[in-house]
Amino acid sequence: MTLPCRIRAPGPGDEAGWRKLWQDYLAFYGVTAPPEVADALWRRILEPHEPVHALVAEARQGFFGAGRLVGFANYVLHPQTLGPQPVCYMEDLFVVDDARGQGVGRAIIETLMDKGRVEGWPRITWHTHEANEAARALYEKIVPSDPFIRYKVKLK
Ligand SMILES: CC(C)(COP(=O)(O)OP(=O)(O)OC[C@H]1O[C@@H](n2cnc3c(N)ncnc32)[C@H](O)[C@@H]1OP(=O)(O)O)[C@@H](O)C(=O)NCCC(=O)NCCS
Repeated sequence: MTLPCRIRAPGPGDEAGWRKLWQDYLAFYGVTAPPEVADALWRRILEPHEPVHALVAEARQGFFGAGRLVGFANYVLHPQTLGPQPVCYMEDLFVVDDARGQGVGRAIIETLMDKGRVEGWPRITWHTHEANEAARALYEKIVPSDPFIRYKVKLK
């Protein structure tokens, strides 16, 4: 099956497309964030020395409008205690409605895995809600969930 998109790091020209995906992602979770949050996040994604990064899925010719951004992942690299290499946490993953079920989400994660192998990250982790069946169906095809349980204390 031809992948309908190309997965790559975003550049300055992707701002409008990335912002639309970010808004749709927030809407999916029923949350709102002031525009300053997206402004700061986008600035950090474009700044190579920041630990916040992204991948975007750009539609190929003949699929969903060539050049349109149809998916993204935002991820952070952070230090760990078991070695000098950074580890990766995937924060956000989103594919637009009309591009779902065609391998875009899987391609984004696999591209992140390839990048991590090249750069020597020991692992990538992420969470999802137990009721998110689509996300879990995708994730279970990549790796089974592990037995760790998350704890969260809200401080404000
Ligand atoms: C979860 C999400 C990213 C999946 O993206 P996608 O591009 O549709 O996923 P893919 O097409 O790459 O699916 C990969 C596999 O997962 C399975 N899958 C994906 N969505 C599924 C669904 N709704 N029901 C059953 N299986 C599903 C597919 O069968 C596919 O398996 P295959 O590769 O063997 O055919 C997308 O549904 C989405 O953006 N949802 C809203 C935001 C969200 O939940 N993000 C995750 C937050 S943790």
